[in-house]
Order: sequence, then C-alpha cells, then structure tokens
Amino acid sequence: MKKLFLTAVAAFILSSSNAQTDVNLGIIPAPVAIQKGSGTFAFDKTVVILSANPKNAKIAETLKSFAATKGLNLRVVQTLAAGQKAIEITSVGADQLPSEGYQIKVSANKIKLIGKDAGLFYALQSLMQLTPDKSTDGKIHIPNVEINDYPRFSYRGLHLDVGRHFFPMSFLKKYIDVMAAYKLNNFHWHLTEDQGWRLEIKKYPKLTEVGASRNGTIIGNYPGSGGTDNEVYKGYYTQAEAKEIVAYAAARYINVIPEIELPGHASAAIAAYPELSVFPDRDTYIGKDWPWSGSRTGKQVQQTWGVFDDIFVPSENTFKFLENVLDEVIAIFPSKYIHIGGDEAPKKYWKESEFCQQLIKEKGLKDEHELQSYFIQRIEKYLNGKGRSIIGWDEILEGGLAPNATVMSWRGEKGGIEAAQQNHDVLMTPSTNGLYFDHKQSVAEDEPLTIGRKGKGFAHYSKVYNYDPVPAVLTEDQKKYIKGVQANLWTEYIETPAKAEYMLFPRVYALAEIAWTPLNRKDIKNFSEERLSLHLAKLDKTNTNYWVPPAVGQPDKAVNGENHVVELKSPITGAKIYYTLDGYRPSENAAEYNAPLKINVPQGQQKVLKTIVITPSGKRSIVAETVFNNGAVEAKVK
Ligand code: ACM
Repeated sequence: MKKLFLTAVAAFILSSSNAQTDVNLGIIPAPVAIQKGSGTFAFDKTVVILSANPKNAKIAETLKSFAATKGLNLRVVQTLAAGQKAIEITSVGADQLPSEGYQIKVSANKIKLIGKDAGLFYALQSLMQLTPDKSTDGKIHIPNVEINDYPRFSYRGLHLDVGRHFFPMSFLKKYIDVMAAYKLNNFHWHLTEDQGWRLEIKKYPKLTEVGASRNGTIIGNYPGSGGTDNEVYKGYYTQAEAKEIVAYAAARYINVIPEIELPGHASAAIAAYPELSVFPDRDTYIGKDWPWSGSRTGKQVQQTWGVFDDIFVPSENTFKFLENVLDEVIAIFPSKYIHIGGDEAPKKYWKESEFCQQLIKEKGLKDEHELQSYFIQRIEKYLNGKGRSIIGWDEILEGGLAPNATVMSWRGEKGGIEAAQQNHDVLMTPSTNGLYFDHKQSVAEDEPLTIGRKGKGFAHYSKVYNYDPVPAVLTEDQKKYIKGVQANLWTEYIETPAKAEYMLFPRVYALAEIAWTPLNRKDIKNFSEERLSLHLAKLDKTNTNYWVPPAVGQPDKAVNGENHVVELKSPITGAKIYYTLDGYRPSENAAEYNAPLKINVPQGQQKVLKTIVITPSGKRSIVAETVFNNGAVEAKVK
C-alpha cells in the first residue's frame, strides 16, 4: 500500500513539472472532452495567425499580444502560403456547436480554434492556459489534441459588494479579467447598501452627495470591538464609469447585473432622502454600545454592519423614486436582469406604521410579508414593462413570488429548491456551501479578520469544489430551472483590493469548475494536485494577492501512534515548505522540507508539526499544525 502511494507521489512530481502531461492540460475549468494524439505543434516565430473573418479580428489581436509575452512576434494573415504553420481562428462550423461552445484542434502544422463570439473567446482562453513555457529546445510545444468544450450552466456568476467598501475602477477591471480567463460570464455588481450608495443617479444627486459617504467605519468585528476609525469614507461611480465597466465586461463576454437593494439595506438612500423611510422623523437607530463617529441624530449612513430596521416605505412617492432610479439604471446597463435585492428587510417598522397597516388592509394583503411581495411585484411589473427581468434574493419567496422573478438562493439551497418547484428560474449561491467568499479559508489563528468568528463560516476551496448546484431532490423537469451558480464577495471586512484577492483566490478557480465542467469530469484530486499548483504559480508571478494553500499531504486531524512518516508536496510549483517540530512558528529560518519526515513520538508524549509554505514571490501560507500523539495524550493543539 505504502509503496503504491510512493509510486503515485513520484508520478505526480514528474507530471507536475509539465502541464502537458496533465489529463486536463492544465486547463481550469476542465473541458468537457479532451482527446490526445501524439506529437506536438512547435509554436515558434515562423507561425502566423490565420483569421479571414473581420468579426474575429479582436481575438486575433489578443492572440498576437499573448504570443508577444512569449517572445513571439506573429503576423496576422487572411490566407496561408503553402506549408506555412498557422494558428487558425475561425467561425466556420461554429453553428453546430452548443451555445458558448468551442473546439480546439492541434496538429503538427496547425492549431485550429473554432467557435463564434463567446465560444471563440473561450477557445482562446483555453489555448492560452494550455500553452506551456519554452522547453529546453527553445520552442513551445503544444501537444496534439482535440478539445470539445461547452458550459454546464448558462449563468456563471461572481458578485462584488462595493457598498461596504468601495473598489477602484482598476480593480473592477482586474476582477473582470479574472472572470473572463475562467469563463465566468455574469458580474453581479452590488451597488447600494446601508453603508454607501455607489452609483451616480442624475435625478437624485443627494444619493451620492450624502449617501455615498459615511463618517466612520467600525474597527474589528461587528458591532466594532475597536471603536470606529473616525474617518470619512466615501466613493461612487459616475454613470460614465459604470458604462465603461459595462463595455469592458462586454468585450470579454461578461454581462453586468446591477443590484439596487430594496426595500431593505437602504439606509444610505434614506439618509439622502429621509421621506423614503417609514418614519422620516425618527433618528437612524444606533445601538448604545455601537461605536460611532459624528452626529447620532437624523438619518445617517450606517457605520457598522448588519441588518437595519429603517427600510423603504411602500408609498407612491417611493415607487416613483425607484422607477426614476431604475430608468437611469436601465439606460446604463443593457443586462436583461436587474437585481432588486429583497433580502433582510425587517418588518418591524412596517408593523408599527399606520400607513403600512392601512395599505395592507386596502390591498387585501395578509401581513407584512405579503406587503413585501406587493412591493417587489410592483417593481417587477415596472421592469418587465421596460423589457427587463428581476433577480431577487430568496426572501422574495416570502409572501409570494413575483410572477417572472429569478430567485438567487443564498440561505442554503432551500429557497432555490422551492423556487424551482414553483417553476421559477434559480441561481444558486448558498452561503452554506462555500459560495460566500467573505468566509475564511481555514480555521487557523492567523487568518485575517473575516465575518465569521471562532471557526464559523469556514470555506476552503474544496468545499466550493464539492458543491453541486443542482439539488438532488428536484425532479428532472425542475432541475432545468437551475440556471447557474455564483459566488459572492461581501466586503464588510475587505477594505482593499489585496484582501479581496486574498479571499478570491484560489476559490474562484473552484467556482469556475463547478459552473462550467460537467459532473463526470470533475476531479478534486486532479484539480488540487495538478492544476491548482500551475495556476497559482502563474498568479504568483503577477502583482496579485492570494491565499496560499498549506502543504499538500499534511494531516488536518491529530494522529495517534509511535512512528509517523509525513510526505508533503508543495501546493504551488516552485514554492518551498518549511517546518518545525519544536513548537516554534516556522519561517525561512526553519528546516526546509525536502524528504519525507520521520516523526517518532515516545510513549505518552506528543509532537506538533508546524509547516508554512513560502512562494517564489514571498507570499506565505497560514501555519498548518498537526499533533502526533502516542498513547493517551489529548490533542492540545488544533
Ligand atoms: C445576503 O447575503 N444578505 C444576500
């Protein structure tokens, strides 16, 4: 058994030095079908790019730029001279392919990329991923292969909350670039929150003059264990900037879905226009234990996180306001879908309000949940009238679904299941299954501040990977309503692009694979031991932060016995592992791992192995710890 294991390790070490030997050619998300031939296409400077269709000129240009990064200056031609080696870009035959699908055919003299629109774009993404670095003969050898590929889900989403923290345009573009490289196609832009309204609305300038600014931000976990920072925090996107993002994304086959939260998560809008509140004259509620900067009276943009009672009043004035806002939103965003929020809207103020109670009677509604449903349905009707459809968080089920709404299931899968059973489209993004990327990636003490405390809300990339967005309880017909999957990056505790990147990688790779790859091609071992190491090694060479996985092979639970052998592997090509057995924190001053560790533990004692991974760019993993017991010693260390 052990010998078998060692042979497998040796095979891995050989294969991991070269992407070409991986069954998936290093591609994330893994393609539907890969058929390997023998030999290679030698990619050198004699190769030309053959692209006859002017519609594909941009793809040809992108390929040319990519080749330049490999030191190859290629020409783009419309016809081929006899015997000329080429990478051909074509849409001929693409009509037979599934939506967003593509083919890549590599032979000794030609690489053919076949697809149209997004499909061709994805063919190029895959080609760029499978292209290895130069080999010892100075050439780039691309294996002869045929790839047939198309997505499992039509909706492959990634969300970013810019309400809690504001992110610069440069970061949004980088985020979109990552999405494009991994074949994600919907950017859910969460633009309005209790802590900030981030989109210019010309008819209501106070939304950004007042609503885009807060007087401070809590320090530490909610409600602010370290007070507030006492600094004005502000930022918003002009309409021109939002349009720039829409165009940037569209050029990469990504749709941008704006989210305008209603009726809850509306403190910033209410601070700007108090008449939108159920109780315009009530001060914004601020808990007496909450740290706060500046005035505590009147309507305030929130400075701590959470859910707040002050929500929109369902008055004609509010509906007019929202319709006017949505008119401007529609003019910026061509997306068929507009996200209208609908989550976490406490009904306390509606219960207390004479106006709301009267409205409930007048409309023949049962309760405040039906009032919320009335609210959402009015907005849906308005947007449907403009040719758009709504997406709402799963709370929009309460009190009855709006007739054409798509449900985004976040409180587990329950809402998604219910919606599919009611024949409504569903997008799965359950916080319980690893798709909340604001959750920490390990339970180690040295993870940075995140939303969950004491190990709660832990989401390692394998949890993301192991999630199947289609619930088994649904019938075959109902399963068709599951249109896709999304991960969310809420930014209460994510103040900077660097931290956003840390939370995003490597989980976004797992998201891409569950969104694209068919179930029968999923393989966590191949993903985490062969491909992840290559993608992270590439990432390590760029100016991008990421969570460095600990060494592969280290037990994550206490182990009992006298003699132990620990085989470790670097999770990133080129990274080093350092370890201690003396209780001290490992660093580059500690022993470097380069052979299996023999750990002997005397009877009744324990030893603790601590490891750290340090990447070529100097990034460090958390310290991973394993307790080795011999006999009755209780595990003292996590
Ligand atoms: C949510 O996380 N409140 C959708």
